[in-house]
Amino acid sequence: MLGSIINGQEYNEASNTKDVLNPYTREKEATIALASKADLEQAVTNAFDTFHHTMKDMPAHERSDILRKTADLMEERVDDFADTIMKEAGKPIRSSQEEVQRAIQVLRFASEEAKHISGEVVPMDAALDGDGRLGLVKHIPLGVVAAITPFNFPLNLSLHKIAPAIAAGNTVIFKPAEKTPVSAYKLVQLFQEAGIPDGVLNLLLGTGEIGEGLVKHDQVHKISFTGSLPVGRSIRESAGFKKVTLELGSNSPNIIFDDANINEAVDLLVKGSFAFSGQVCISAQRIYVQTSVYDQFLKQFIEKTKGLKVGNPEETDTDIGPMIDESEAKRAKQWIDDAVDNGANVEAGGNQEGTVLRPAIMTNVNSNMKIIAEEVFAPIVSVIPFDNEDDAVTYSNNSIYGLQAGVFTKNLDQALRVADQLEMGGVWINEISTYRQDNHPYGGVKQSGIGKEGVKYAVEDMTEAKFIGFKLKDND
Ligand code: SIN
Repeated sequence: MLGSIINGQEYNEASNTKDVLNPYTREKEATIALASKADLEQAVTNAFDTFHHTMKDMPAHERSDILRKTADLMEERVDDFADTIMKEAGKPIRSSQEEVQRAIQVLRFASEEAKHISGEVVPMDAALDGDGRLGLVKHIPLGVVAAITPFNFPLNLSLHKIAPAIAAGNTVIFKPAEKTPVSAYKLVQLFQEAGIPDGVLNLLLGTGEIGEGLVKHDQVHKISFTGSLPVGRSIRESAGFKKVTLELGSNSPNIIFDDANINEAVDLLVKGSFAFSGQVCISAQRIYVQTSVYDQFLKQFIEKTKGLKVGNPEETDTDIGPMIDESEAKRAKQWIDDAVDNGANVEAGGNQEGTVLRPAIMTNVNSNMKIIAEEVFAPIVSVIPFDNEDDAVTYSNNSIYGLQAGVFTKNLDQALRVADQLEMGGVWINEISTYRQDNHPYGGVKQSGIGKEGVKYAVEDMTEAKFIGFKLKDND
């Protein structure tokens, strides 16, 4: 039985427990003891006290060392972490290994960043009466950060919150997704092995109620959440004066102009539409293709998609594994059926068996269909023709979301014009919307979220600018 870890101590006896099921085999992988309200209270109190007694004064080089040592330890256990992610999330083993490598990088970026949090001198004499004064700005930690994380990158997206929070000198309460608590538990143990003081990183294994409790708690200073739009909206409404970072959904567009390298775009988009069964916030969901190359693109795209190996995530040649659970697979299948009832065509895939949904390519879609208007978070992509640049931009921007987009063209003027006009947090040229590096700013506009991650940017968001002014001369 795995339990919450509060102030360095594990709590694995509880009246409420939950089994963690392997999404592919549906076998039990672990059982967790669910945290109670009393555990939550204790975790917050400890994190609050530890911030004031330990973390606030921990020098940057020590914070940096803890993060570096954790990265070193993870490097020794790549296979174990990858195996855990594969089993609890159903993520194909090659992708699970990639996730662990990214997580190691995030820890290393954060270790470096911890040593570069600086301040500034304010030009006080630029203001009337400002001469003879000195102004300093320091970036200080916030206090207690709650990291509420999703199942789709259970290790790396957790570290995108935990590592910057520690780099900046905060204490953390980590509430991982209920379906993927095992990698979270192992991660906290790894930090302990790396020497993190008790109470700096606390783990609460629990349901949405624990998340809600953290959002409303007065001694929590920041909520960093990745997940769905409805939950993000309710966090925004309940968080009061806390700082909030929300990484929410998207229905990412990718635009293929007629001068693009079509072979390359097809190869990348097959991966970008279906990797981890489309359960990626920036998964390619809408592919807009210029009319003159539409048939060529679609034919090649269908052919390549049909060649994907769908099945057991444990096998190294598997491209597409299961979705996180059967109800999600059924929900996605229903969205395909609804679209078909309204005139859409299924060009490939779309069959659902248990937790597995075969990669589906849709055409003849319209903007009222859920598979276009909402975040599908499933292996479903639509291929849609467009005539000119203005149409491509208008169709892409016709969304409540704006996280990341991809644009394929060799025309630099066109690329820059389109990138400027797309209402997105990020735009890639000649790369898919699904591509993310862990050191660039990442976060959406519109209803895709608030704030940025990407280690340096997350560290900024995990601090407060504090002004200290000096009056250097007496008035007389
Ligand atoms: C996400 O699903 O938001 C994260 C994508 C990534 O980190 O690659």
